[in-house]
Amino acid sequence: MFVSEALNINEKNHLTIGGCDAVELAKQYGTPLYVVDETAVRRHCRTYKDAIDKFYGGNGLVFYASKAMCNLETLRIVCSEGLGADVVSGGELYTALKAGMPAEKLCMHGNNKTYEELVYAIESGVGRIVVDNKPELDTIDAICREKGKKQKVLFRIKPGIDAHTHSFIMTGQIDSKFGFALETGEAHDIIRHALTLSSIEVGGVHCHIGSQIHELEPFRQAAVVLAGLIADIKAETGYEMKEMNLGGGYGVMYTEDDDPIEFDKYIEAVGEALRAACDEKGIALPFVMMEPGRSIVGTAGITLYTVGGIKDIPGVRRYVSIDGGMCDNPRYILYESVYKALVANKAGDAAVDKVTIAGKCCESGDLIGKDMPIQSVEVGDTVAVLTTGAYNYSMSSNYNRIPRPAMVMTKDGESRIVVKRETYEDLIRNDI
Ligand code: LLP
Repeated sequence: MFVSEALNINEKNHLTIGGCDAVELAKQYGTPLYVVDETAVRRHCRTYKDAIDKFYGGNGLVFYASKAMCNLETLRIVCSEGLGADVVSGGELYTALKAGMPAEKLCMHGNNKTYEELVYAIESGVGRIVVDNKPELDTIDAICREKGKKQKVLFRIKPGIDAHTHSFIMTGQIDSKFGFALETGEAHDIIRHALTLSSIEVGGVHCHIGSQIHELEPFRQAAVVLAGLIADIKAETGYEMKEMNLGGGYGVMYTEDDDPIEFDKYIEAVGEALRAACDEKGIALPFVMMEPGRSIVGTAGITLYTVGGIKDIPGVRRYVSIDGGMCDNPRYILYESVYKALVANKAGDAAVDKVTIAGKCCESGDLIGKDMPIQSVEVGDTVAVLTTGAYNYSMSSNYNRIPRPAMVMTKDGESRIVVKRETYEDLIRNDI
């Protein structure tokens, strides 16, 4: 019934997360409230790490894609599990460094890294910069020459693979703003050019084919395509790139309709496909990197809300208004994402109602979901929306000047605040 092992129901018929009663958490910390189970985050990190050891002889590194949920405590936890982090802006880089993540375990992304961000990344000593376009490569080279440094880079490649997911989060196809196309020769050209630059260390290739993918085949194909590129460059120039980063994208369970694959299976499948491809093409097995975001934090998190108004529109639908919405979870308004919701104070009851959960912003599209099956809902109930750990807090906004919720972490029946609730004072802090 539940999308995560972190969730359960106690003797009061209340939802629990990480051994804590969700209704009590709502009372203690207020709503809306992000709740994330630390144990679940750590378990997911270990699954990936163990799989690299088991299926790939430890010859790799897992980077947590911090865009999924970026705050100090999450990065400290991920770092303590031995993972690196993928950062995509100066702000994410700053947060990771402040959390104590070693710079060499950071991978800097972005399709338009600013000059200042590149200087910041290079001066901080980030291990790898994933190059998106030619002007950026030349800028990195110029900064490094000026500072007497050498920077390892990977090249973001569009492998031309069609992964079945929402078109807004599909990235591997030729018509994408990210990276270098293979079909046009652009990918080969940039690598040949990089090999002529004295301040650039050509580490290898990167791709990210999309997000919330429930299949193994696109990942196998991507690994084989990148191995082909490494072999092509070796044949042309004699230089053999040693590293391959396969991005993130592994799907998780939002509702019972999702049938996710165990995360370690991705590494097993990619490992097998890569071994075969490298043997066939006569190249060494590369150091392999992965960048899971959603699958590290997604199912570890829930959001708690309090029900305000309920509106029955006969023959149309039943609206249940909550004290949050698109400001803390914009995924319905962006992607019409589907979530599972529970009345946390009646968690074990049958889902006899069908309601449209509406947020409090001045937008008709501000919904958590339409016609969602749920227990009988009354004003004052605590509603829990599941699988909100990824891309909720990190994509939140202050639209309508709504302060962002607090975030609490749970662990073995204990809870603690990891991000404070914003205040009205916070909202005007930068106003002159
Ligand atoms: N690596 C790169 C280069 C990426 O662009 C992404 C996600 C990841 C790794 C992590 O992917 P994950 O394992 O989390 O699927 N806001 C959207 C998701 C956008 C993903 C963007 N890139 C959503 O809410 O579904």
